[in-house]
Amino acid sequence: MEIEFVAAGAALPAKSGLARIVFEGESQGGALAQAVAASRFTGAKGQTLDVLAPQGVAASRLVLVGAGKKDAFDALAAEHAGANAYHALKLSGLETLRIELSGGAELAARAALGVRLASYRFDKYRTKEPAEKKPSLTKAQIASDAGDAALEAFPPLAALADAISFSRDLVSEPANILYPAEFARRVKELESLGLEVEILGEAEMMKLGMGSLLGVGQGSVRESQLVVIKWMGAADKSAQPVAFVGKGVCFDTGGISIKPAENMEDMKWDMGGAGAVAGLMHALAGRKAKANVIGILGLVENMPDGNAQRPGDVVTSMSGQTIEVINTDAEGRLVLADALWYCQDRFKPKFMVDLATLTGAIIIALGNDYAGCFSNNDELAGNLLEASAKEGEPLWRMPLAEYGKQIESAIADVKNTGGRPGGSITAALFLQKFINGLPWAHLDIASTAWKKPSSVPTIPDGATGYGVRLLNRMVQDKYEA
Ligand code: BES
Ligand code: MN
Ligand code: ZN
Repeated sequence: MEIEFVAAGAALPAKSGLARIVFEGESQGGALAQAVAASRFTGAKGQTLDVLAPQGVAASRLVLVGAGKKDAFDALAAEHAGANAYHALKLSGLETLRIELSGGAELAARAALGVRLASYRFDKYRTKEPAEKKPSLTKAQIASDAGDAALEAFPPLAALADAISFSRDLVSEPANILYPAEFARRVKELESLGLEVEILGEAEMMKLGMGSLLGVGQGSVRESQLVVIKWMGAADKSAQPVAFVGKGVCFDTGGISIKPAENMEDMKWDMGGAGAVAGLMHALAGRKAKANVIGILGLVENMPDGNAQRPGDVVTSMSGQTIEVINTDAEGRLVLADALWYCQDRFKPKFMVDLATLTGAIIIALGNDYAGCFSNNDELAGNLLEASAKEGEPLWRMPLAEYGKQIESAIADVKNTGGRPGGSITAALFLQKFINGLPWAHLDIASTAWKKPSSVPTIPDGATGYGVRLLNRMVQDKYEA
């Protein structure tokens, strides 16, 4: 999707449709008043009214896009208006979408972001889709009175949109295509943006003593990988970094504790945490963020096999702590145990935030809109929640309650499951044993990494890219000089 910023009233190209933002209570003139009167359109958020363009409008179609109350029209509302305009005309056969909008450069740029996010589609494996079912819009023009200021406000948002698309692509890819080494290779390609990427294979992880992560990948023919991504964008390149760690289970069968067949295909997106961290690093490099940031991805495939780990096995993590593997399907925490320990040991960051599609229990607790936030540090949790509200990626703080007894093992230092009560909490308590006391937050995004159907205009069905914009916002607002 190509984006342009033009002056209000600039000549319309051929094959274009016009979208006009309408607030609640605002009345239209002439023929439009008639069209509105004959419909249920009130200007409420999310409504659109598609009409043949009246005389005097050069476009072939005109869409009124409801944007709610005028005084509540903020950046997120502008984004949703842009996205709704896109959806109203995407299958119209028209090629250019012109969005008319007033209210300044920031709102114009955010409307453009809305179009970019809404137009994301993962269609690379569709070879026979009829042309009339494919979106026809290829260009969006944002017409405002903001002049060049809108164009200047857009590049960091374009970088964010690119990053979210990158993340959604990773999460959408099937596991026969995106296995750990392929994931690592795609991240390595981001060096062209100025990131530094190191890839550790099984031999190197063995030397580091990562028995917990390696045990998970043991039943797979695909080699496990640990990816270290560095963005040292602060003025002082040696200043203490912040760090993000992602669960990257490229496919989770459950291993020997195998999952039921129904919906198992969903487990291709069990690398959504790593996808979000990779997307964040893409965004930071894309907009040249003035911060030192480390991203770590623990990439494995969890398969049943003659060589797979068994329930009851005891593994030794890099931290030295031993873990009794009660259930091989509680594998994400085993991957993160070593990735988190490695991260703090090597980089001594200010804090670590991990993202993981960790538990089904978080879906039961919060439904599919909110991700869960677990943290030992109120300031960090507060910063995450603040960024979540600004970016429209809902997050809810959960308790790190005193349920530690549930993960005590009779024969090892800890066991990897704590039973059904508080399943997301005991998973977080397990992770907490591998952070060496650092400020830390764990985002359980099993509830938000994938949405079908989606209820948000900027998020298509399927991979959401959840986390990229939230973390990008937190870094931008709190950790840049
Ligand atoms: N990847 C799953 C969690 C998950 C479930 C993500 C559904 C998205 C949708 C995770 O590895 C898992 O299997 N967790 C188990 C843990 C249990 C065995 C303690 C779960 O949630 O059932
Ligand atoms: Mn699992
Ligand atoms: Zn999993």
